[in-house]
Amino acid sequence: MADGLRKGLTSYGDAGFSLFLRKAFIKAMGYSDDALNRPIVGITNTYSDYNPCHGNVPDIIEAVKRGVMLTGAMPMVFPTISIAESFAHPTSMYLRNLMAMDTEEMIRAQPMDAVVVIGGCDKTLPAQMMAAVSADLPTVVIPVGPMVVGHHKGEVLGACTDCRRLWGKFRAGEIDEVEIEAVNGRLAPSVGTCMVMGTASTMACITEAMGLSLPMSATIPAPHAERFRLAEASGKVAAAMAVAKGPKPSELLTQSSFRNAQIVLQAIGGSTNGLIHLTAIANRTRHRIDLEAFDRLGREVPVLIDLKPSGAHYMEHFHHAGGVPKLMQQLGDILDLDAKTITGKTLRDVVAGAEDVPGQDAIRSRTSPIKPEGAMAVLHGNLAPRGAVIKHSAASPKLLQHIGRAVVFDSVEDLTLRVDDPALDVTAEDVLVLRNAGPKGAPGMPEAGYLPIPMKLARAGVKDMVRISDARMSGTAFGTIVLHITPESAVGGPLACVRTGDEIVLDVAARRLELCIPHDELQRRRAAWVAPEALPQRGYLALYARHVSQAPDGCDFDFLNSRTPVAEPEIH
Ligand code: FES
Repeated sequence: MADGLRKGLTSYGDAGFSLFLRKAFIKAMGYSDDALNRPIVGITNTYSDYNPCHGNVPDIIEAVKRGVMLTGAMPMVFPTISIAESFAHPTSMYLRNLMAMDTEEMIRAQPMDAVVVIGGCDKTLPAQMMAAVSADLPTVVIPVGPMVVGHHKGEVLGACTDCRRLWGKFRAGEIDEVEIEAVNGRLAPSVGTCMVMGTASTMACITEAMGLSLPMSATIPAPHAERFRLAEASGKVAAAMAVAKGPKPSELLTQSSFRNAQIVLQAIGGSTNGLIHLTAIANRTRHRIDLEAFDRLGREVPVLIDLKPSGAHYMEHFHHAGGVPKLMQQLGDILDLDAKTITGKTLRDVVAGAEDVPGQDAIRSRTSPIKPEGAMAVLHGNLAPRGAVIKHSAASPKLLQHIGRAVVFDSVEDLTLRVDDPALDVTAEDVLVLRNAGPKGAPGMPEAGYLPIPMKLARAGVKDMVRISDARMSGTAFGTIVLHITPESAVGGPLACVRTGDEIVLDVAARRLELCIPHDELQRRRAAWVAPEALPQRGYLALYARHVSQAPDGCDFDFLNSRTPVAEPEIH
């Protein structure tokens, strides 16, 4: 039987009085005893005037409440913080762990038998999943859904792959100020998350593949009526889970489901950020993401989704082609289809219901993939002893094996000041290097890994260069860009020792990233490295600076990890 209002009583030393007081106060809202005796489904509210991606959250909440009540349970909505990508200073990543802590603690603190978390903008779904996993209460995830596409001069546009592409054209002088202003009003034509395969879409697809949300929840466009019907159905499922007291995240998130998530991440041409978030979620469980195993999967799993930035289409096309169920059907036995979902059904059941859409070309079969290998590769070498990541599905093939001279920027500020300087000594064959942009260094690991092409080269028609950093990159970006170099330079990683003029080798096929200087010289430079000044002393920044982990550890706070990992078996 559900605990309802009796769950987690406030501590006054007299449980009877605690319940009496709780009921007395909540009755001030007009609830009846009948309502208060029902199982409770908590619903997070991440609506904010600062978060246009979550603009449909109030309507989703209404639909969830309807579903909960139709099933005889009691919905209770509560606020958590909301993070919008372009409104978070210094970065949204800096705030992800705060949102995870806020959400987890409010789920724990308030009486509820199940919870529905509604999120979408890049860091919100990861934060909510980290919270749900740690609280381990029956949880239904509802992504807010992608925006519909925009149009400009007969061209289909989407945030934010086309934001970057068209801004690049503006920087190169190919379009003028009047046109870039017109584009500005057409890139995000509705509420919802970025409609390319950026981090928001990636995390929504992973969530669905892990069975934490209902089929098609990742892809239904945010303004569509279908999204609100899905929200109502999600409310019904959450109410049933409240009564059954399960399944809990710990029952659904098995080694198989994390492996399935990694396969889907590779097959959708997902965001590199997805790997960090999935790692953080796994680290809250007994399971772990092994970068080498992820890389091996990348050599076996083809990219099957033809979406920007790796391909041509947008999320609504993926949806109309059959969504994640159809993708999983195409992946077939690469996945463990016996993995369970929130409804009690398996992925095999979900895949059996996948729609067949004649003529669609957004979801490919394994015999005609977009790319024969997965989206991402993990690199190692003397520059990245603990690894680095490249999304090679969205890179220039001719640059995937490259030797170039380093042009070093010491920080994001240094980059901003110098990259467009006409006097900058740089050619298209050079390797742009950015450091002090990792989890601790910036702080907050900004999405600065997509270094702009220096203005004078952009104006000469250069579209891509090898760029390497300890930063992240938006999942919506395109380019030959090495990210998450670990250890980061702010903790003395070898990246801190690179000097302008050094030679750097990138060899994606061999999974290598090397600084071509003698080992002794590298050791000398590391010994001479001076750590940044004292850590900040106050507030969340002090907590963040002391406890944030490196990219291969998920950038979570070290004290939030589960300490009992299960040894990962070999994945073949
Ligand atoms: Fe919110 Fe892209 S800015 S998902």
